[in-house]
Amino acid sequence: MEKDILVKAFIETYGEGEVAGYFSPGRVNLIGEHTDYNGGFVFPCALTFGTFLLIRKTNNPFFRFSSLNIRGSESVGLDKLAIPLAKGNWVNYPLGTIAQFVKRGVGFSSGADILISGNVPGGAGLSSSAALEVVTAVAINDQFATGIGKVELAKMSQKAEHEFAGVNCGIMDQFASAMGEKDHAIFLNCDTLEYELVPVKLEGIKVVIGNTNSPHSLDSGQYNERVRQCQAAVDALKPQIDIANLGGISVDQFTSLQHVISDEVVRRRARHVVTEIKRTTDAVSALKSGNIELFGQLMNASHDSLRYDYEVTGFELDTMVEEIRKIGGVIGSRMTGGGFGGSTVSLVRDSAVDNLIETVGKKYFQRTGLKAEFYVAEIGQGGHRVF
Ligand code: GLA
Repeated sequence: MEKDILVKAFIETYGEGEVAGYFSPGRVNLIGEHTDYNGGFVFPCALTFGTFLLIRKTNNPFFRFSSLNIRGSESVGLDKLAIPLAKGNWVNYPLGTIAQFVKRGVGFSSGADILISGNVPGGAGLSSSAALEVVTAVAINDQFATGIGKVELAKMSQKAEHEFAGVNCGIMDQFASAMGEKDHAIFLNCDTLEYELVPVKLEGIKVVIGNTNSPHSLDSGQYNERVRQCQAAVDALKPQIDIANLGGISVDQFTSLQHVISDEVVRRRARHVVTEIKRTTDAVSALKSGNIELFGQLMNASHDSLRYDYEVTGFELDTMVEEIRKIGGVIGSRMTGGGFGGSTVSLVRDSAVDNLIETVGKKYFQRTGLKAEFYVAEIGQGGHRVF
């Protein structure tokens, strides 16, 4: 959005004066789903859409929050920064992030006025919440000169999600939103947070995001249930093998030990995670060696594993992926993000993109009654100051 429009809106809300602006992106994950909270690998990239945050420090004993997207402004006293608001209040995302600064011992002797404006489609599984947390972390760190590094800001943003939104998410979304680089995906080891930026400039191929417009909701409890099931698998495997998380066991080791997991559902959940971690490292190698067909096959296998073993896809995502895969020129297609609705990500030859959007749009509507939206992804920059 235009700077002038945002600044005007800020001044209308809070009055004349200096304003600083920050931006953090949403993300799309190319492969490596539900592996992050298992100490596995992920391969996300930052998008060019995301969340703007405008801020002005004040002499007031409170922070004020308002948004151009969502109704409901809040004023929160400096002595209440570490206390969540009612469940479902959007302000919990920026507030929860500021709370992490307080918990680290950052003392706020005065507050600030904050205005949010986001263009990540909400509920699309493209991390609008991480974008909001990370933009808050980046802005507060800069404005209050707290000197915290970006990886730490990503971790604080993740904690905000745990403590103020109740979702026990992994680090992927916040890391991608903070650390993303233009035209690169991030190959991240979620156990050690070591990462490598891998160029994603694909000759004649586009990354196409398909929004099912079936809102995904992470606080539905099903996400946290998956986290618990993975822990149950680790607990069952531990007497046999010394692991801290499912990232510590290879596919071969898992195949020979899986019988000790007596619960069949838990076993399938673990199988997804262990095989997905392998698919992710294989996919990154394939990309680096220019074997894009293999990358696509691994994306397809990832979706099928999320569908049958992890059971986080659902009718809309499966329908869209099925229809996309019928289009000639599609190299691979899968769900992206937490699942239970949200978006798909596909690698598509340039010449097939228009046909895909039209044909899949029609077929998807016929089968689900929902209107899909498609975006040709541009890979953008992680959280930063814009003015
Ligand atoms: C959500 C979470 C991430 C990750 C994905 C699934 O986006 O926020 O931490 O677990 O789901 O890969």
